[in-house]
Amino acid sequence: MKNLLAKAAETHSLSKEELIAVLNDDTCMDELLQTADAIRQKYVGDEIHLRGLIEFSNFCKNNCLYCGLRRDNKKLERYRIDIPTIISLAEYAKNMGLKTVVLQSGEDMHFTAERMVEIIKGIKSLGLALTLSIGEKSTEEYEAYRKAGADRYLIRIETTDKKLYQDNDPDMSWENRVRCMNDLKSQGYELGSGCLVGLPEQTIESLADDILFFKEMNCDMIGIGPFIPHPETPLKDAKGGTLDLSLKVMALTRLILPDINIPATTAMEALAPDGQARALCGGANVIMPNITLTDYRKHYQLYPGKTTTGYTPAESLNKVINKIESLGRTVGKGCGRSKKWLKEQQE
Ligand code: 5AD
Ligand code: SF4
Repeated sequence: MKNLLAKAAETHSLSKEELIAVLNDDTCMDELLQTADAIRQKYVGDEIHLRGLIEFSNFCKNNCLYCGLRRDNKKLERYRIDIPTIISLAEYAKNMGLKTVVLQSGEDMHFTAERMVEIIKGIKSLGLALTLSIGEKSTEEYEAYRKAGADRYLIRIETTDKKLYQDNDPDMSWENRVRCMNDLKSQGYELGSGCLVGLPEQTIESLADDILFFKEMNCDMIGIGPFIPHPETPLKDAKGGTLDLSLKVMALTRLILPDINIPATTAMEALAPDGQARALCGGANVIMPNITLTDYRKHYQLYPGKTTTGYTPAESLNKVINKIESLGRTVGKGCGRSKKWLKEQQE
């Protein structure tokens, strides 16, 4: 195992079989995280970049089996934040010192390309970097958002196992999701993706494929989180993913893609109070504090136990800054572009 980790740290390349061997080995956890931490430090430094997350609508036309926002969850009170309020939340983020905001929603048809462009222009005029996380759109829509100023886009592949994807995301197509990722990358976005860990029937082999897929797709950011069963979904009785396996997939991703951005995800924190801290010491270099107004947050329940639910935006941010300082790291001063993306721009 030591040899494999040393090889990964040096060459940033492991075969599928080698990835599987590391994922299956329970004795190498500490060493894996430490190696990923060292590679993180070498390639992207000690800064932790903050992204202010605005969950602006919890309407979704899709029905993913694992997700609390799925359209068949009739118990969920749905909300949309209006355009001026979304822009004023971004302004608030800026005043708190944040340099990037992430706009996230379900796939909500109310927010047409025209409305999104209005929001994007409003936020870009504040001088912030802007990430969108609003799902599958047409090539033309992505182009319109990019032209309006959007810098980055998050769209997790969720799993590279096509059958598992199809089973869990009815009426969606894996191929279309890959099309979205290719469009975004070729249009010059910084591309964020990622996967869920611990979906029912997901195999270690397919998690190894996920890591190789992130490399193949040339991703600039990868978010990995445990699947956490939600009581109002068909997967309510499923076992769910573990923090340790999620951390392993994350750490291996850092070894294979050394200069990308990797967030310590909120789902990791939902499983353990030190989930994000462990992630930050095992390869992660980004945190996304939630700056959605407190009243709306309880309705944006992708999974239960989201730790940020009861807090105000300022409280969320302070908690995150304290965490960063307690780990001896620093808050990123710039807008925290992916080092890999910046290098590509110079080539
Ligand atoms: N547990 C963990 N993560 C989830 N997501 C959706 N539902 C769950 C769940 N039950 C994640 C998906 C999606 C992101 C916005 O939230 O990976 O891409
Ligand atoms: Fe909608 Fe995304 Fe939830 Fe699927 S994961 S139901 S697309 S919000």
